[in-house]
Amino acid sequence: MILYVKIIMENVDMCGIVGYLGKKVNISRFIDLLSNIEYRGYDSCGILFQRNNTLTLKKYNNLLQMRNNIKSNIKSDLILGHVRWATNGDSSLKYAHPIQSINKKVSVVHNGIVTNADELRNKYLSNYKHIELDTEIIANYIEKNMYMGKEKAIEQLIGKIEGSSAICLSFENDKSFYCATKDCSLIVGKGDKGFYVSSDICSIKNQITAYQKLENDKVYKLSSSGLFVGDQKIKNWIFLSYDRHNLAKKYKDNLINEIKYQATSSSKILSIYVCNNDVTFNFSDEFNSVLKSVPRIYIVGSGSSFNAGLIGKYFIEKYTGIMCLNMFCSEILYNEYYVDKDGAYIFISQSGETLDILNSCQKILRSNKKVIIITNNEFSALYNYDCSKILLFAGDEISVASTKTYTSSTIILFLLAVYISKLRGGKDACKYINKLKRLPNEIRKILSKMQEIKKIANRIIKFEKIIFSGDCLDASVLREADLKFKELTYINSHSILLDEIKHGELAVIDEKTLVISLFANNLYKNKFESGLNLIKARNGSVIAFSFNTEFNIDGLCFDDFDSDLLPIVSIIPFQLLSYFVAKKLNNNVDRPRNLAKCITV
Ligand code: F6R
Repeated sequence: MILYVKIIMENVDMCGIVGYLGKKVNISRFIDLLSNIEYRGYDSCGILFQRNNTLTLKKYNNLLQMRNNIKSNIKSDLILGHVRWATNGDSSLKYAHPIQSINKKVSVVHNGIVTNADELRNKYLSNYKHIELDTEIIANYIEKNMYMGKEKAIEQLIGKIEGSSAICLSFENDKSFYCATKDCSLIVGKGDKGFYVSSDICSIKNQITAYQKLENDKVYKLSSSGLFVGDQKIKNWIFLSYDRHNLAKKYKDNLINEIKYQATSSSKILSIYVCNNDVTFNFSDEFNSVLKSVPRIYIVGSGSSFNAGLIGKYFIEKYTGIMCLNMFCSEILYNEYYVDKDGAYIFISQSGETLDILNSCQKILRSNKKVIIITNNEFSALYNYDCSKILLFAGDEISVASTKTYTSSTIILFLLAVYISKLRGGKDACKYINKLKRLPNEIRKILSKMQEIKKIANRIIKFEKIIFSGDCLDASVLREADLKFKELTYINSHSILLDEIKHGELAVIDEKTLVISLFANNLYKNKFESGLNLIKARNGSVIAFSFNTEFNIDGLCFDDFDSDLLPIVSIIPFQLLSYFVAKKLNNNVDRPRNLAKCITV
């Protein structure tokens, strides 16, 4: 039983890997690279470096501790680092990576899950009684079998493990890294000083000029003479063509920079996908003809990506008349009976690495090829799948909570709806596209109200119960507002359709309750007002953002906005609100607790 629990704990690694091999560099410079990837996990971290032919392994609770404890002038030419994120179980240093084999001949950093770890230990490492974690099983299996050759032992292990994993190994007395992956991203980059290994190119992109995305089930050896699979030297490096960051860092917190960047990211999307008032997606003729006649569309995602899909449903139904359904990844994974073979599926994932989305997308692709992937990460496992794809081009999102990738997903879904409508003979595409050109300006108009929103944030903190509630499409926007609010503030809130409050929810409304609402995408003003009156009649308070000047309410009214763009922009006041409340509570807005940028469990 204990064993089972421990393995589950190890399975919660989301984590980030960074490795360096080349000319001697200061360890402090390497820690900068690790901190670029810290968004993937900040429960513990570790570093292994070679100096004078000796390997030193250090583990810390966080990168600041690592920085303060390793002398800044130490230099090394082989460094391997890891940041770890845990969902449950402890985050103690014994679980920090790199993890070494019993005789310390093998050190490994590992992302992902070995789902059959227990079985592997019982079968191949039965004498290693105290080994519990799947990463320990990897290290010790390789140590035990390296007599047959390091690459051979790794290849054998990769063939045996189940689940998704990326590993990078370092061996005693060997100036190389050995890497392998199974449905987890791992990239090798080369730069002026040497080679780098990383789970996300964003951590190393300023150091490299070209990269390789490692392929599943192959064993790569990285040494000073290059990257090899067996005797074959890898030659076809991909050169970095554009700066993925492109984010002026005006404020200290990435989150607020990213919220503000939405004016720029929206115009960037339009510059990429709109040409002469027409939307262009790189779909095959065959796929275009599928879209012409498809009877139903499913939009699948988790968290903020699911919420963006709710806005997409509205656009697709409005502009194309095609029936559209939203699904969580898990609804696909655990429904054993039904895949709609006629419908098309849209999978949204900003990271492109969320395990649930990878598994659910694979499940659909096995029987239905009518799939579109929307992601911000062209280096992700999802982006590798064989189907139609759209990139968000939102730039890196360093802050863990999604903001600009959410709005970018809604813009892409707007464009997709217009695109499908045009394929089906719709005449209004031009009109809608013209409207989108106003988007960056509309976003700037909202951002100019930051100080007013900050004042509202100061009023919220005194309430014990927070409910996000509105009607029609506003309820979908408020669902995302609620997610952002609890992620950043840690205040217990929930969201519900305003029209549903009368069916039971009123029981919890009292003077300690604040309902935060929105009036933007709703044609039923009287009904909305009567819903709010039910709350006020039970001494609950209401604060709302309204985009209708006739609607006088406690909160903030934004005037003169294009109603067709409100489904996209009306989330922004709530992103700001959550930011200001979180700041007031002294929370770390870039690294909110218990959240990771990509959920690989
Ligand atoms: C919210 C957030 C998460 C993600 C969810 C799905 O701020 O970041 O809710 O939206 O984990 O992640 P992706 O879109 O990467 O599949």
